[in-house]
Amino acid sequence: MDSGQTVNTFIDFFRERGHGLVGESTLVPEPGDPVLFTTSGMHPLTPYLLGRPHPLGRRLVGVQRCLRTTDLDEVGDRTHLTVFQMLGSWSLGDYDGVQSIRWGYELLRDGYGIDPGRLHVTVFGGDEQVGPDTDYWRTWSELGVPVEPTVEDNWWSNGPVGPCGTDTEIFVWTGDGPPSGTPTVDPRWVEVWNHVSMRYRRHEDGSLEPLPQTSIDTGLGLERLLTILQGKESVFECDVFEPWNTTIPRLWTLDERSSRLVIDHLRSSVVVIGDGVSPSNTGRGYVLRRLVRRTLTTLWRDDPSRTVMDLPPVLVEDTLRRFGQPGDIGRVYDVLRDEERRFSGLLERGRQEVSRRLRRGGLNEEDYRSLHETHGLPRELVDNLLTMG
Ligand code: ALA
Repeated sequence: MDSGQTVNTFIDFFRERGHGLVGESTLVPEPGDPVLFTTSGMHPLTPYLLGRPHPLGRRLVGVQRCLRTTDLDEVGDRTHLTVFQMLGSWSLGDYDGVQSIRWGYELLRDGYGIDPGRLHVTVFGGDEQVGPDTDYWRTWSELGVPVEPTVEDNWWSNGPVGPCGTDTEIFVWTGDGPPSGTPTVDPRWVEVWNHVSMRYRRHEDGSLEPLPQTSIDTGLGLERLLTILQGKESVFECDVFEPWNTTIPRLWTLDERSSRLVIDHLRSSVVVIGDGVSPSNTGRGYVLRRLVRRTLTTLWRDDPSRTVMDLPPVLVEDTLRRFGQPGDIGRVYDVLRDEERRFSGLLERGRQEVSRRLRRGGLNEEDYRSLHETHGLPRELVDNLLTMG
């Protein structure tokens, strides 16, 4: 099943069950929102999860691009991406979590053909404030899916304040041979779908206020699901990465982890630029700056003459099209070119300053401080210089 069929199967399944299709929002939340980027399908729906009526009704389905930088250092492994697409379904105070997991099970088994013997779930086991999710536990057991209870891993929130609650996470076995172990101890269990019961609102002071109605928020990572459906080893091998996988190795020779990082960060940079962000030293712009500079650092480690301007336009076009961005491809190249030049100039100046200090016997905390404060070289950049030699 390719990515188009996988998305349509999800949307059709929920539309047949009365869900209205919500449009995809950009990665950049509305002005006044303290969150830098949309990190989850529910983010644009926050007011509705807190009780405001949605114009499409109480059952929704959609696909949302998301960006997560918490996992930046894990990019390059089998499962982590910075920008990814999340398939989501929502019940705004309508059906309950038991219905949601029954449908989830049905879709995975019948819609996507996943052998239920490869499933494992985690559920909230209870803490001093909130009791265990016994309904979920019982339902999964009735369906014959093994359950592992946890506490921290099964509490979901999108930030320090706002709607939150317990969740149940669905994992698929990706190892060779029969499943073994449990999701918290064996990484061959890959999490694909999370069903959250939004029952509380967290306030600034940390207190939890029960919401007048429980809503259900689910999120299924598209690229992870594709990896499983297409029988691939890593997210980078699923069909959405095909144009990248045929192009990047022809441009640059990189080891596997570096190649994955370059592909992930360049693809994410294109999408972030496509949503109107420009590099800067703060906020969203800083996230974009880090993505581009981490790419360049990786490329230049072996050959400083490499340039992201060699990226073929067809790749940029394909990426913007996939994410439904009308985007101006010329602007993507303008932004990348400016940032590459700026970074190259900064590195040149930084290199001289760092080697002067290295000759005097290495860098200490005081060097890092003065390189930052006097020469505008953040620690991350100095570390880049040290790795680049
Ligand atoms: N909002 C939940 C998540 O992102 C579904 O995992």
